[in-house]
Amino acid sequence: MTILTIIGARPQFIKAAAVSRLLRQQCRELLVHTGQHYDYGMSQVFFDELAIPAPEINLGIGSGAHGAQTGAMLAAIEQVLLEQRPDALLVYGDTNSTLAGALAAAKLGVPVAHIEAGLRSFNRTMPEEINRVMADHLATLLLCPSSTAVANLEREGLTKGVHLVGDVMADALLMALARAQDRSTILERLKLNPGGYLLATVHRAENTDDPARLQAILAAFAALDEPLIFPVHPRTRKLMGSYQPPPHVHLIEPLGYLDMVRLQQAARMILTDSGGIQKEAYWLGVPCVTMRDETEWVETVELGWNRLVGADTGRIVAAVRDFTPPAERPPLYGGDGHAAERCVAQLKEWR
Ligand code: UD1
Repeated sequence: MTILTIIGARPQFIKAAAVSRLLRQQCRELLVHTGQHYDYGMSQVFFDELAIPAPEINLGIGSGAHGAQTGAMLAAIEQVLLEQRPDALLVYGDTNSTLAGALAAAKLGVPVAHIEAGLRSFNRTMPEEINRVMADHLATLLLCPSSTAVANLEREGLTKGVHLVGDVMADALLMALARAQDRSTILERLKLNPGGYLLATVHRAENTDDPARLQAILAAFAALDEPLIFPVHPRTRKLMGSYQPPPHVHLIEPLGYLDMVRLQQAARMILTDSGGIQKEAYWLGVPCVTMRDETEWVETVELGWNRLVGADTGRIVAAVRDFTPPAERPPLYGGDGHAAERCVAQLKEWR
């Protein structure tokens, strides 16, 4: 059996790191990189550090408006599917690459498997929400990280081919943690003490493309009185223009996974609008302040380790100053490091 896997953006490289190696022990996998993320620090560094197999095909489709980017991927993936004739297609998450892959395959009658199925923010203004709803309805194998995700699919009438497998990002994190301890020198390079700094990331369109929200977030960073390390996503960098940070805010380039894991693990608190980082913060036992109005990872909020504060300067600052998480941190989203094995088992049984 041949499975054609579509990846294109940073979090998909991390998920593929957990799944690809196992998948290749069971069947033939062709990895297709759409090119959505193309800077060294957004793409190749993950392949190098995490030993992800080199993509067999790179479509080289980078920047562009949503329609143009997704459309170019759709046409190119269709061509690959016609040439390679795989038995199935695998997509991850909620990016434009996910949607393009799922749609191209479904139109050609190639069965689609979706890892990280069933996540919902219930906010249709997010491009990711559109992408994940569409991908789930095009897929016939839906591999879910949480029981909330399974319930979300059930409400949309999707019950066939739905399996709770846990989160493959936990597998990737566990793999990276040991390596990061040995190989990452980020704390030394940035002269940081464990627990002595905040770590922030911002890249969601809802925050970066709305000047008022971006300004409110940057104003909150400026109002804090401890070192804040801010690896800046290229999208955010472009939209920040000539922003000059105050001395305690350290803008750095996007990081590879090992440095990012080490930096998260030793942070006093994490401020983010990323989905993956909310979970990683939980698994690492670092309190997380999420600068969004809703989250797909509701369990992290319910358990008291994640606070949703929107893009509100006062709420961000208040959360950073007086947020003490509870003593309890029960296992979440599988988190046992075996989700990828469960995904591969379902993929094998499915066909
Ligand atoms: C995408 C995903 C989002 C995911 C995120 C992870 C969609 C709609 N969004 O958002 O779900 O959480 O990836 O990072 O698919 N750029 C560079 N260099 C790069 C990559 C991007 O300069 O290596 C620029 C692009 O030219 C573009 C901007 O950053 O102007 C945004 O890139 P895009 O691919 O649209 O999505 P992300 O914001 O990264």
